[in-house]
Amino acid sequence: MENASKNIFLIGLMGAGKTTIGRALARRMRLQFLDSDHEIEERTGVSIRTIFELEGEPGFRARESATIADLTLRSGIVLATGGGAILLEETRKCLHERGIVIYLRARPEDLYKRTKHDRDRPLLQNDDPLSKLRSLLEARHSFYEQTAHIVIDTAEQGVPRLISTIEQHLLAFQSHT
Ligand code: S3P
Repeated sequence: MENASKNIFLIGLMGAGKTTIGRALARRMRLQFLDSDHEIEERTGVSIRTIFELEGEPGFRARESATIADLTLRSGIVLATGGGAILLEETRKCLHERGIVIYLRARPEDLYKRTKHDRDRPLLQNDDPLSKLRSLLEARHSFYEQTAHIVIDTAEQGVPRLISTIEQHLLAFQSHT
């Protein structure tokens, strides 16, 4: 791991709290917060929804992979990634080798509660978003687990409690490396 002691990367499904927790963690650790979806929108000048409409999921994944390859070269950052960032092997490698990767694990029912009013996530705009979240978790959980150095169950914990749980895990992880 090159910049591992200085970078933290958050992975997990849509609605896991990567952006909210990432922002709070960055503030607490005095690191810079970045969000890969936001960065892709800045770079292209259009929304994620529009990228999916124009280029489909493969086009979006290519942009996501290039953006994450670039952002993970920095140091001193907390990066919240999009839920599907772990789908491509090269992206998993960038994340795992260039920082400490934290998987924010949550149950599909909780993810559904947090995303049900959202209209900006193309993969959830269908008749049964809860089933979609279940099948995404089924398809992705092994990628999340193999990419992560630390797995945190978000369950019903509030943000302050999650931040202190994450800090404890980071300390334990760093004392082993
Ligand atoms: C996606 C998750 C989204 C965004 C895009 C695709 C996914 O990010 O990258 O809509 O494939 O799970 P969030 O996890 O931040 O919602």
